[in-house]
Amino acid sequence: MNNYPYPIKIRAVWWDESSKEVCCVNTKKLPFEEEIICSKEPGRVAKAIIDMEIRGAPAIGVAAALAVASYAYKISNLNREEFFREIENAVNILWNTRPTAHNLFWALKRMKRIIHDSIEKRLDVKEVSVKLEEEAIKIMDEDIWSNIRLGEYGAQLVPDNATILTHCNAGALATAAFGTAEGVMRVAWYKGKKIKVIATETRPVLQGARLTVWELVKEGIPVTLITDNMVGYVMRKGLVDLVIVGADRITKEGYVINKIGTYMIALSAKRNNTPFYVAAPTSTIDLESSINDVVIEERNPDEVRRVMDRYITLPEVPALNYAFDITDPDLVTAIITEKGIVKPPFDENLKKLLS
Ligand code: MRU
Repeated sequence: MNNYPYPIKIRAVWWDESSKEVCCVNTKKLPFEEEIICSKEPGRVAKAIIDMEIRGAPAIGVAAALAVASYAYKISNLNREEFFREIENAVNILWNTRPTAHNLFWALKRMKRIIHDSIEKRLDVKEVSVKLEEEAIKIMDEDIWSNIRLGEYGAQLVPDNATILTHCNAGALATAAFGTAEGVMRVAWYKGKKIKVIATETRPVLQGARLTVWELVKEGIPVTLITDNMVGYVMRKGLVDLVIVGADRITKEGYVINKIGTYMIALSAKRNNTPFYVAAPTSTIDLESSINDVVIEERNPDEVRRVMDRYITLPEVPALNYAFDITDPDLVTAIITEKGIVKPPFDENLKKLLS
């Protein structure tokens, strides 16, 4: 299963087989320090997700699933009734961490299914723990393979010598490994295409400047950093051939919910006739919700008032901190998934893809 066709150089989240713990790189410390966090406690993993030590839609889904499996082993000395009460409580704690990324709910629903099947089949606690571990590892492996496959589809859309603009971090650090938007770049690069990347810094917490730049430099892919407000001018100057971003949720109508600032990039791309691609595994596609059901996360305004640990304005000034925005389907050229490239009309074609 793990015979990957490309090098896997960065793991964001993984399973420690010997300790049965979920481990992740603390992305808050990057690019200056590579700290690793391992835990068996759903509360600790939930905190890591809320505080964005682990972030990116697929990565938080994988981390939450592994956290449930890890906790199952930790409490496998309890009797059945106590065990199931505790494990369902753990799922709830993880469920209530971040509201927008679909992958979190998608992964936890899979874990819930295992729990409910196990209750019905009257499996003993040890058997349930093994089943939860198997499912969580499957979710993690599927994420890596989805990224590789969507990378292969997406690379066909990347011309040789292209300059790609990306936003936030949709790389290995936002997934189990490999990345979505950056997965496309990786495959194009491994296939010998001489691409260049323009990365937006991505205020307020600078995932572009801290994480995307770090990943691309590690890979050897040429990257140039810009501030978020340079996007329009850089596109107008003709410096961008295509845009590739990730997604936190794609609704059944084809609305793309992604890091705040994505919508402005899509508008600018449309105006400048630049293709705007979204790379996401099908675990990000939410056919059950329409755009009006989606909750856009609002985070602590201090993230806006500060850069890293320093206030850059008056500490008491009101600030808005929407974490995500909504890009309309008509601004999206295509959605790149592991099952193929989806073109408009998205409402019809997403349904077909997942049927
Ligand atoms: O708030 P974050 O850092 O979790 O937001 C992440 C993004 O918006 C990414 O672009 C998105 O999750 C796609 S990741 C493959």
